[in-house]
Amino acid sequence: MFKHSDLIMRTVEEGDLEKMRKLRNDPSTWTMLEHVNFIDAEAQRQWFQKIRSASTDRRYYILCDDQNDFIGIVRSDQIDQANRSIRIGVDIVPELRGKGFGSRAFQLLKKFCFDYLNMHRVWLAVLETNKVALALYKKQGFKKEGIYRSAVFRDGKYLDYIIMSILEDEYRAKRL
Ligand SMILES: CC(C)(COP(=O)(O)OP(=O)(O)OC[C@H]1O[C@@H](n2cnc3c(N)ncnc32)[C@H](O)[C@@H]1OP(=O)(O)O)[C@@H](O)C(=O)NCCC(=O)NCCS
Repeated sequence: MFKHSDLIMRTVEEGDLEKMRKLRNDPSTWTMLEHVNFIDAEAQRQWFQKIRSASTDRRYYILCDDQNDFIGIVRSDQIDQANRSIRIGVDIVPELRGKGFGSRAFQLLKKFCFDYLNMHRVWLAVLETNKVALALYKKQGFKKEGIYRSAVFRDGKYLDYIIMSILEDEYRAKRL
């Protein structure tokens, strides 16, 4: 586990799978993600086996603290060791949104990626309609890198997928 300002990022255990599935299947979550796919219990178990294997660089962690055993999830993939780059994402359970957990999760993730994984660039992708996330990422020091134009079809419209990143020196300058 990794702890930063009382927020904990820990490994996924079997007992988390139903909560993860519920979070992923909630319309307020999946409408903000790249792909539309609903997950049944069996698919969730198979997915759990897959992410535990070495064949993928996709990692999932659970966010928790002393009061809440499941605040949301953290995901990372596209780890590029040569260029020291990683993609990250965070989803918070609907009932705990707007309480500062997303902001604290990003502070924790930046520390983990830059000060422990020794990354140079941390990036993410966000739909143009996800105003809360866009504002959060900007406040956390992420800068817009570019746009995948009309890349995601959602609710009858093609949406831009915005790529944002923060670099190591920007993270260190902000902390001083
Ligand atoms: C995006 C998400 C991770 C943010 O997490 P969160 O815990 O709600 O974030 P916070 O409580 O730290 O709030 C972040 C900022 O957004 C603002 N905010 C939160 N909810 C808001 C809302 N419904 N409307 C307007 N602003 C809102 C907060 O005021 C805060 O801004 P501030 O720091 O200026 O006060 C969370 O909303 C979520 O999981 N959404 C669904 C899935 C998703 O979009 N995932 C990301 C895909 S790229």
